[in-house]
Amino acid sequence: MEYIEKDALLVKEMSEKAGRVLTACVTTFGCQMNARDSEKLRGMLSEMGYEIVDTEDADLVLYNTCTVRENANLKVYGRLGYLNTLKKKNPYMKIALCGCMMQEPEVVEKLKTSYKFVDLIFGTHNLYRFPELFYKALTEKGMTVEIWKDSKDIVEDLPKIRKYRFKSGVNIMFGCDNFCSYCIVPYVRGREKSRTSDDIISEIRDLASDGVVEVMLLGQNVNSYGKGLSEGLSFAGLLRKVEEVEGIERIRFMTSHPKDLSDELIDVMASSKKICDHLHLPLQSGSSRILKLMNRHYTKEDYLSLVDRIRCRMPDITLTTDIIVGFPGETEEDFEETMDVVKKVGYDSAFTFIYSKRTGTPAAKLPDQIPEDVIKVRFDRLLKEVQEKGALRSERFTGKTLPVLFEEINRQDDKLITGRLMNNSVVHVKGDHSLIGKILPVTLTECHGFYYMGEIA
Ligand code: SAH
Ligand code: SF4
Ligand code: F3S
Repeated sequence: MEYIEKDALLVKEMSEKAGRVLTACVTTFGCQMNARDSEKLRGMLSEMGYEIVDTEDADLVLYNTCTVRENANLKVYGRLGYLNTLKKKNPYMKIALCGCMMQEPEVVEKLKTSYKFVDLIFGTHNLYRFPELFYKALTEKGMTVEIWKDSKDIVEDLPKIRKYRFKSGVNIMFGCDNFCSYCIVPYVRGREKSRTSDDIISEIRDLASDGVVEVMLLGQNVNSYGKGLSEGLSFAGLLRKVEEVEGIERIRFMTSHPKDLSDELIDVMASSKKICDHLHLPLQSGSSRILKLMNRHYTKEDYLSLVDRIRCRMPDITLTTDIIVGFPGETEEDFEETMDVVKKVGYDSAFTFIYSKRTGTPAAKLPDQIPEDVIKVRFDRLLKEVQEKGALRSERFTGKTLPVLFEEINRQDDKLITGRLMNNSVVHVKGDHSLIGKILPVTLTECHGFYYMGEIA
């Protein structure tokens, strides 16, 4: 990490000239993977001597971008204009971009021609090279650009600054090999690569000794963990190892692809006290015909029978999902199949997305893209169903006393502290910041649909 030291000297020089400590802001778009990458970027920036801040009137603004849907991209372009006005007023200001959107050649071309004020662009595969690239950006004229198409290696031991003291994401794998036909992630994140269980467990042990009580194991398809490693350890096996780490009280994971969810995993979940009773199980569509076009490798019936097997072992489990409305060729009948699954499963909550055409994916070439007005009607119907069912389902815990991990002071009312149940539901309780990071039993007095009010028992 010699470049971190070289950067630190330059940052020190600039700070002395400016007569103040220079600040850096990393803004994250997209998923938990990006959030974790941002923690690594903040770790590197802090070692370079920057003070890490949350506001974009900083001396370095780094956007860690997402490109999963068109609006994720539009947001970035929109905000870059604003950053340029800030840069004109601050001679020390640098603007850098990284993340999934930068893996798209058209995006980089557009930035090179129309957003010349950007100082540095890098991608998802060379994140660890940020210090060296930043050095180049600080010492050379013009825009520094380095994007790799893929990478074979996983670079361990980057510095990190966690957003929360008491909980942390932990990458267990990178990339994705599933190629769902609508999805750009495999193209921008590269092939699936698992970290060894030794690396994962040693990171989790370090986190536990640093006060972390909850870990979220991260991967685009955690159920295929271990593919390509010689260890022969399944995801369920990995969970068993994580459970043994002393100090870790809660284990979450994201995301589970239904096609690879094993009975062994259901067993481990059902018998564990630490693994949270929550499963995020993306459905995408309830129509077997559309699922085939999506390349999801399961049918409506497979999905429903999987849910039955899960509920049979864990009747109270919280189920959440992702659904796409308006995939090319989706008919009214196909949409009714999705509504049918939603009614039958009764999700606790669901993320619903309007299909977004991503250039380069197979679905973008399919005929019969669905008109916006048709999608909108379907989307509203789906949202209403999901919200009504979700609110009804949360009632089942009202009156119960359950452990809550307290996370932060409520943003609207500072007399309240906000925490989460094992199943990820939000609970507000009267209290102060001394509770942050603690797990205490709370009686859930009122249910307000998406959250509970409670009292410490
Ligand atoms: N790996 C995860 C999902 C990552 S992307 C999984 O397979 O479950 C998160 C969600 O974004 C997906 O579940 C999907 O519902 C949605 N999504 C992905 N591509 C999309 C697109 N082109 N249009 C709309 N939604 C999309
Ligand atoms: Fe995208 Fe499918 Fe991979 Fe999830 S599993 S990231 S939806 S290709
Ligand atoms: Fe977006 Fe990349 Fe995540 S495209 S959803 S930030 S993997």
